[in-house]
Amino acid sequence: MKAVFTFCQWFGERYQMNGAEPIGLGVIGVGNIARDCLQAVQHPETGFRLVGLCGLDEAALARTAAEFRVEYVTARYEALIARPDVEAVAIYSPDVLHFPMIEAALRAGKDVVVTKPMVVSSDEADRVLRLLEETGRTLLVGETSRYALYCQAARRLVDDGDLGRLVFGETHYVHDMRPVFDKTPWRYLEPKDFPIGSMCHPIALLGWFLGDVEEVSAYGVNSGVDPRYPADTPDTYLVNVRFANGAIGRILGAFGIIEPPLPMETLRLFGTKGSLVHDQVVFDRIPGKPAVTFEHAAERGHDGEVRRYMEEFAREIREGVPSSSSAVDGAKTVAVGEAIKESVISGRPVAPRPVSVPSTVATSQAGAAATH
Ligand SMILES: NC(=O)c1ccc[n+]([C@@H]2O[C@H](COP(=O)([O-])OP(=O)(O)OC[C@H]3O[C@@H](n4cnc5c(N)ncnc54)[C@H](O)[C@@H]3O)[C@@H](O)[C@H]2O)c1
Repeated sequence: MKAVFTFCQWFGERYQMNGAEPIGLGVIGVGNIARDCLQAVQHPETGFRLVGLCGLDEAALARTAAEFRVEYVTARYEALIARPDVEAVAIYSPDVLHFPMIEAALRAGKDVVVTKPMVVSSDEADRVLRLLEETGRTLLVGETSRYALYCQAARRLVDDGDLGRLVFGETHYVHDMRPVFDKTPWRYLEPKDFPIGSMCHPIALLGWFLGDVEEVSAYGVNSGVDPRYPADTPDTYLVNVRFANGAIGRILGAFGIIEPPLPMETLRLFGTKGSLVHDQVVFDRIPGKPAVTFEHAAERGHDGEVRRYMEEFAREIREGVPSSSSAVDGAKTVAVGEAIKESVISGRPVAPRPVSVPSTVATSQAGAAATH
């Protein structure tokens, strides 16, 4: 451990000598996913220096600050954001708090990385895009599904045309929420808005491959498996999707279920030259059509995904390189979540509300749909 730390210091010094000062980062929230961010920025090559932490639970805050050697802690996010050494803010608070925290950080001239969902309504998403235009700052949505290694491999295949034209795609996020509710009661007290706060994963992932959604047709059901979640609100959704490029898709978000023997998240893409199911791919041009499997080194939880998006965040701040998960993408994902809710209630297909992108935001945050 000592050797690793010494190497990190050496690497950090070299980084600074090359002219790239680490970016001062303030982190709001010290729950599990925030810890992945705190771990990620321990690696100097991510380009950040931790300068402050914010959270409401005093004991958890003190413990986390000691573990990650952070001197400044506060329960007031406004105080963290106001510090001059905080150049960028990472937001890992409950979903409904994302917007006020994004607004405060952008108005203070700080760049923002916010965990998913970016915000909880299209009105808030609109205001984020206007704030980005006004302030000229940048924002990355930590949409982990786009940073999973098997999804990044799939994206490379699609971008290179190996699957041909995509005709149909499916994603699912299937998660028995009972143990998660035990640890984070805000998820049933708020309560968690599943189409916005959880289905953002499969929506954002399918949209990364198939582009803008033209229309959704959705059904929802409440399972009653966990009586803490309101009985009048669905906790499981099945959605048929038509994309603007003519492709079709299906998204499943199941949260009131007994954990099935399935991967929690999955991706299926069907193109004119090949098909991909999670980490397996078949190419029409290979004789016998063997299934080729990507075997990546195992990663713990979301740690690799968060590290990859923090690296993109630093590149975007320093060099203006667009990320794979912009504010425009975040806004489109929220609009699809709202359309799903409306379709369940009305029993009709619904077009998502269009996202109006200010012209100065368009270049850096243009969104990242695949081209095939
Ligand atoms: N795959 C992913 O990217 C992923 C996974 C899990 C959670 N999340 C998202 O991360 C966020 C946090 O989820 P969690 O499971 O870590 O929750 P959590 O309850 O464990 O953590 C929330 C943190 O926010 C802090 N907080 C709450 N109110 C605050 C306030 N007013 N001011 C300052 N700090 C405040 C709490 O003290 C706590 O440290 C949610 O938006 C959730 O959707 C993303």
